[in-house]
Amino acid sequence: MNFEKYKELYRYSIENPEQFWAEQANEFLHWDSPFEKVLSGSFEKQDTRWFVGGKLNASYNCLDRHLKNKKDKPAIIWEGDDPAQSKIMTYGELYEEVSRFANVLKKQNIKKGDRVCIYLPMIPEIIISMLACARIGAIHSVVFGGFSADSLRTRILDSDCQLVITADEGVRGGKIIPLKKNADQAVNECRNVKKIIVVKRTGNSISWDDKRDVWYHDEMKKVDSNCVPEKMNSDDPFFILYTSGSTGKPKGVLHTTGGYLVFVATTFKYVFDCADEDIYWCTADLGWITGHSYILYGPLLNGATTLLFEGVPSYPNFSRYWEIIDKYSVNIFYTAPTAIRALRHEGDEWVNKTSRKSLKLLGTVGEPINPDVWKWYYDVVGQKKCPIVDTWWQTETGGILISPLPCTPLKPGSATFPFFGIVPEIIDEQGNVIKNNEAGKLVISKPWPGMMKTIYGDQKRFIETYFTEVPGKYLTGDRAHRDEENYFWIEGRNDDVIKVSGHRIGTGELESALISVPEISEAAVVPIPNEIKGQGIFAYVVIKPNVIPSDELKKKLNNHVREMIGPIATLENIQFVKALPKTRSGKIMRRILRKIAVGDVENLGDVSTLADSAVINDLIAQ
Ligand code: PRX
Repeated sequence: MNFEKYKELYRYSIENPEQFWAEQANEFLHWDSPFEKVLSGSFEKQDTRWFVGGKLNASYNCLDRHLKNKKDKPAIIWEGDDPAQSKIMTYGELYEEVSRFANVLKKQNIKKGDRVCIYLPMIPEIIISMLACARIGAIHSVVFGGFSADSLRTRILDSDCQLVITADEGVRGGKIIPLKKNADQAVNECRNVKKIIVVKRTGNSISWDDKRDVWYHDEMKKVDSNCVPEKMNSDDPFFILYTSGSTGKPKGVLHTTGGYLVFVATTFKYVFDCADEDIYWCTADLGWITGHSYILYGPLLNGATTLLFEGVPSYPNFSRYWEIIDKYSVNIFYTAPTAIRALRHEGDEWVNKTSRKSLKLLGTVGEPINPDVWKWYYDVVGQKKCPIVDTWWQTETGGILISPLPCTPLKPGSATFPFFGIVPEIIDEQGNVIKNNEAGKLVISKPWPGMMKTIYGDQKRFIETYFTEVPGKYLTGDRAHRDEENYFWIEGRNDDVIKVSGHRIGTGELESALISVPEISEAAVVPIPNEIKGQGIFAYVVIKPNVIPSDELKKKLNNHVREMIGPIATLENIQFVKALPKTRSGKIMRRILRKIAVGDVENLGDVSTLADSAVINDLIAQ
């Protein structure tokens, strides 16, 4: 495709959305029953449904459909944390394993619509588990292996999972992650979890409950590999994935089957332009949406070879990513700005000692990429010959909404143009669409197939969060502007969500964790810029009257937050303060704290709504 063709097809997709999406749906997927209507309902009424009447199965589309021509083609290349460990699974082998494991789930009485929690490291069994759920119509809820027992428990309870799949331990960067131990702790308070299926990864000894725990490898021996895929309605729930918002507990983002699959298959095809013989590698974790959409579903729906890496970019040394690229002749490489920044920081020699000659296309996702970092990625990693697709999207959007295609003329740091069928707008505080070069709220004004269906069990919160501030349009929570040539520039979050190393954390969650420490009476959390992580967490805490501020207390707070949320939630800075700046109605003015945290005390903006302006002086004096 060339850029003119992109523009033409974009116009067509906007003018004839139903025709465009029907064509994609029929090109990329097998439907057990054809859909009768492409799209019904609207954002205004909140009753959108995609591919109405259609029936299909995700696992059939990812596997069975390819058996005729691609049975012996590698579906997964697995590279272990230890460079000496690796494994290749063909489409034929993956089909066998998935069908077998689907039968294991059935034997455990898991049926269509039941929720299954997957808490696994980056090993092939995570893909097998997800596809096995999809095969029998169970709803998977994958929880990132870096989350703590507390976070896991909240997520299991929120979606009332009946079964947990985990491993004895995980291994990352040579370090052990006690997954089964965390799962035991989490499940102790989850009455409806009757079974834990445990994959043996390290073989180290773990605690075991004979009534509740079973080994994955034992159960796999007891079943055969014939499992007829469940025919799912296009609108049936597909999976739940938790993500953080500005307030309250994490939201269970629910995606449905048909729309999501059509959208990830189409975006994968056009954005990455993956040829049949290409080796594709996305470095995300399957615990996040990028892993769901662009390690698993997008690539396998397209019959591509997807690389699954268990480890980290710094182990055993900072050349690891580039060595893997050479080892498997990776052609398409998709990673996050935080990883690029960290590797750039270590110096070019780690990159230059590898060849990377197989690379054709580079991608980034998760945060804005600053032009300097972009240039380093382009010049040093890609040797000035690989376009960079800077893909903007969210857990909620299911797949990529704004991104270059390989043919798009690039500008470093810009996500460029909308994908087919996507109508983004930038609006001001009054809800008017604003002109170029002015920043505002990014909204999407027309439905697209990958859009989440609801927040699991909380349709009211779904509407309040995404469709109330700007009625009839999807509110992304991001701030952006469009330049004179209509390129989109995403500036970052417009709400109280922090992105630490690309991980999305809500200030509300952090504050709840802090105030659950007995010594603390109040807390407010704001982001501060961090050269490697993108953003760091700055916590202002008010301690109770008789408590003495100390470094020990800071340590205690940090440990507590990490324990409640997970190691991704490390506080970079903790400041003890007498009081927090609040409005007369008692709302914490985070806007002011954000400025003070970065030392920008001259530009605090309007402080007239402060209940007590003396608070500011105390904060600044510290
Ligand atoms: O702020 C945007 C940022 O990541 C947020 C979505 O986070 P999450 O749901 O965890 O999904 C991340 C992976 C899709 C967005 O609201 N973001 C994502 N991609 C980009 C980005 N910011 C700038 N440029 C991007 N390419």
